[in-house]
Amino acid sequence: MIIAVDGPAASGKGTIARALAAHFGLLHLDTGLLYRAVALNLLATGGDPESEFAAARACDISQIDLADPELKSEAIGGVASRISSYPLVREALIARQKNFAAQPGGAVLDGRDIGTVIAPHADAKLYVTASPEIRARRRHAELGDAASFDHVLADVLARDARDSERAAAPLVRAPDADLLDTSDLTISAAVQRAVALVEARTGRR
Ligand code: DC
Repeated sequence: MIIAVDGPAASGKGTIARALAAHFGLLHLDTGLLYRAVALNLLATGGDPESEFAAARACDISQIDLADPELKSEAIGGVASRISSYPLVREALIARQKNFAAQPGGAVLDGRDIGTVIAPHADAKLYVTASPEIRARRRHAELGDAASFDHVLADVLARDARDSERAAAPLVRAPDADLLDTSDLTISAAVQRAVALVEARTGRR
């Protein structure tokens, strides 16, 4: 069984994807970490984020450490969003993601284009979202006093625009994806709803 979870930054899709993987006994891949690893490698090697070719070269990473805490920073997220608009970067990362999705036993993947490009035949697809203000509030709480709320909100809006307006595999809800708006839900209510949606689609418990 393959479950595709897509949605904008700070929508709760990562938390929901991890919970779905635990519930259904599947492995999980946060595909945003791959774009973040390329961004980190690019910066570490002095590459220019404005150059598609430099970014494509930075995709040549044999062993990606998905647990590296540096991947989680806002700065790396911003560069990841920028370089993820390059078709050469997206192409370089497709095989890794498709192989993960195709492993025996199935998988849960979360990202921006899982239900549309990476696993269009997924057994269940969720499009997880929340209002920009709520997502900025969550991100702001995570960051503590390190940034002003207005700055975080502007960042969320800029990231939404970049991720959904790019030509290559933009963030878009697949026509057959179930919509899950987490704006007014607690984490546990959102997870319960996600499990129910996947059960309804797949008949699996
Ligand atoms: O989910 P995230 O914030 O860690 O992702 C970082 C950036 O990577 C995001 O702004 C866009 C890009 N991304 C993508 O283009 N496609 C994916 N499947 C996952 C992430």
